[in-house]
Amino acid sequence: MLKEIVLDKFSKVPETMIILGSGINEFVNNLSDSTCLSYKELFDFDTDKSIGHTGQLHLGYLNNKPLLVLEGRKHYYEEVSDSDMRLMIQSFASVGVKNIIITNACGGMNESYEPGDIMVIEDHINMMGRNPLVGKNNDELGVRFVDMSEPYDLEFRNTIDKVSFKLNIKLQHGVYVSYIGPSYETKAEIKAFRMLGGDAVGMSTVPEVIIARHANMRVLGLSLITNMSTGISKNKLSHIEVLEVGKKSVKKLSKLLIGFIERI
Ligand code: HPA
Repeated sequence: MLKEIVLDKFSKVPETMIILGSGINEFVNNLSDSTCLSYKELFDFDTDKSIGHTGQLHLGYLNNKPLLVLEGRKHYYEEVSDSDMRLMIQSFASVGVKNIIITNACGGMNESYEPGDIMVIEDHINMMGRNPLVGKNNDELGVRFVDMSEPYDLEFRNTIDKVSFKLNIKLQHGVYVSYIGPSYETKAEIKAFRMLGGDAVGMSTVPEVIIARHANMRVLGLSLITNMSTGISKNKLSHIEVLEVGKKSVKKLSKLLIGFIERI
């Protein structure tokens, strides 16, 4: 069904899909000739709209290149099963999508970061205590035991660096720690994650990267630092702040994404 929908719109399946994180939804305004479908229609599930995601798939063009943009995602704190977590990305991998750009809003643990910075994810630490590949392996998509020595594609990381240089947009590079949430982290947890080598912390992305790598998709991960994390920031954390910083930084992130997609 998904294949028919995609091929009804485009002459062939787009090579690239993007997942937009909290507050970054406005990126979809850069698409031309776009069609929009709800996840409910496509996958028979909804996302948590209270967090600023609309739960929609956009099929459109960015500078004449066909692109799939997902506005909203599943989080483990929504009490989803591993198979529900796998559903969307595996569906797109099955129809032939090759590249995935995963964006998120997250907290900065590295003291040299500032809210509004964008971090290229170089590696991650999974602190969720969950792995979306638990369960029966889909042998048609990938192997049982997935190599994770370089989950974030090196060539993609080099390309985004070149784009940022050309556009004069500062990028940070670091390790993303995934935390299941939905409560934010404690000061002691942040101290521990920092000691483990983490630079930023958030409640998404890692399951998606694992699913994508299982299906051999090439991954670019970009984190928008919307706040400094607990204990590093003097303020209490709030999702309103996360969304506000997301909105303020969406233009910068969009420029990077547009430049990147032109080059791949
Ligand atoms: N922690 C976890 N998730 C987040 C944060 C944070 O500080 N900011 C935005 N998402």
